[in-house]
Amino acid sequence: MKHFLNTQDWSRAELDALLASARHMKLDQKSRLGELLKGRPLEGKSIALVFFNPSMRTRTSFELGAFQLGGHAVVLQPGKDAWPIEFNLGTVMDGDTEEHIAEVAKVLGRYVDLIGVRAFPKFVDWAYDRQDIVLKSFAKYSPVPVINMETITHPCQELAHALALQEHFGTTDLRGKKYVLTWTYHPKPLNTAVANSALTIATRLGMDVTLLCPTPDYVLDERYMGWAEQNVAESGGSLIVSHDIESAYRGADVVYAKSWGALPFFGNWEPEKPIRDQYKHFIVDEAKMALTNNGVFSHCLPLRRNVKATDAVMDSPQCIAIDEAENRLHVQKAIMAALVGRDS
Ligand code: CP
Repeated sequence: MKHFLNTQDWSRAELDALLASARHMKLDQKSRLGELLKGRPLEGKSIALVFFNPSMRTRTSFELGAFQLGGHAVVLQPGKDAWPIEFNLGTVMDGDTEEHIAEVAKVLGRYVDLIGVRAFPKFVDWAYDRQDIVLKSFAKYSPVPVINMETITHPCQELAHALALQEHFGTTDLRGKKYVLTWTYHPKPLNTAVANSALTIATRLGMDVTLLCPTPDYVLDERYMGWAEQNVAESGGSLIVSHDIESAYRGADVVYAKSWGALPFFGNWEPEKPIRDQYKHFIVDEAKMALTNNGVFSHCLPLRRNVKATDAVMDSPQCIAIDEAENRLHVQKAIMAALVGRDS
């Protein structure tokens, strides 16, 4: 049994196959008829979507994707409309949690064919959060495949992003493109998941990647920097870290923006805030985009306009954030079909 927890666990050939399948799903979706003629690979199958955090795109695209493939999705929000879950082993459960993941995952596995999990960090202790305990516990106890719907990485977003770039450039070969992952300001310290994922997939696809961030404190966790270096060694691309906005943007083919809190301050955010506040000028604006090679801009969304990127950038023809969001639907259909579809 195979899970979809991180793209790094899947071979390049498997990822290419998922992207090709997503392209077919997208064509079928556009013609509608194609899907009916081809049959419905999730006919009679179901997926539990377990959300510990809010979502707009992920929930909508998974629910609709399952439906469009003939399957059914059930949404559960532990602590809201489902019982709060305990993840630690050996805990005397006399606090707020009502049942243990060992039972939750096994019971869900008797009902459904797939489980999707969204569980952001608790933002208190990175040493704890970087273990990805919620996702790994589901994968450990579940008798059916588990899909990461964003924890400390966001692999579904990675594939949607990759597909949008391949569509924009009209080729599946993105080697030689200059890719800038730029940190941007946000009033709150955010999760590094999408940044970890962007770094992973951009290097996996062999691009020349620049991680642009204000100071060394904003460099990503060593695990993801390590994955990126490993990918560069295998793909022939490159990876540099820069704190210089102008040189990073100059000649870029792709600008991908994300905000995140500095890991050395994880759980101690008060002293990080005045530091972060000094870097509001990292906003993606027309002047910076003018330095690029007519570069394309994207973001995972949701995005605070005129904080992370200006209206002019968001409304420009170079912005492919909506295409990327649409692609969530198609890549997730490909993932679900690959994991438990009739021909899987
Ligand atoms: N990009 C993304 O995962 O969006 P949601 O948080 O709305 O699901």
